[in-house]
Amino acid sequence: MFTTYQAKKFNIPTVDGISEKTMTEHIGLYEGYVKNFNAISAALEDLMKDPEKNAHALAELVRRRSFEFGGMRLHEHYFPQFEGGAKELDAKGKLATAFESEGGADMVKNVVTNVAKMRGPGWAILYYDTEAKSFLIGFSGEQHQGHFATLPIILALDVWEHAFILDYGAQGKGKYIDAFFKNLNWSIIEKRFEALQ
Ligand SMILES: [Fe+2]
Repeated sequence: MFTTYQAKKFNIPTVDGISEKTMTEHIGLYEGYVKNFNAISAALEDLMKDPEKNAHALAELVRRRSFEFGGMRLHEHYFPQFEGGAKELDAKGKLATAFESEGGADMVKNVVTNVAKMRGPGWAILYYDTEAKSFLIGFSGEQHQGHFATLPIILALDVWEHAFILDYGAQGKGKYIDAFFKNLNWSIIEKRFEALQ
């Protein structure tokens, strides 16, 4: 219940349109989520020794910890999507075939892009509902909120300003999203989907 985690390492290649400085600083932010999650875990364990006296602090930190967890796990979905370098979606693969029922891969990409362009920081997230055998697109503004509970994440697109402001300025979200898709290794997304079959 008060577990701690180790920050993961990512093998990010040169990404065309997202600078090494952005990636390095971004990974530093990710490591901050892990560190903060662990610090809150330790604090919770301590505060639980006297839950009545510490009720307010506990209530705040329990909520806060899921925010840190969301930041940790979403980034652990985000960075590996660049690993191995850009790779196009296999047009004859299982994921491309499944996308057909959603209007095709271009339509899915278009919907993800437009959700990512929504005002405000957050994450555009493509989920897969194994029960309904369909995809859902969502937007999580606060990393722990706005999710489709229990649904696995197929694709996670970070659109917090820290992901693009160094390279494209505060109004450069659109250009960054283009760079994201240009460099996306779709085989990672395909593996996530195929693991759910
Ligand atoms: Fe981020």
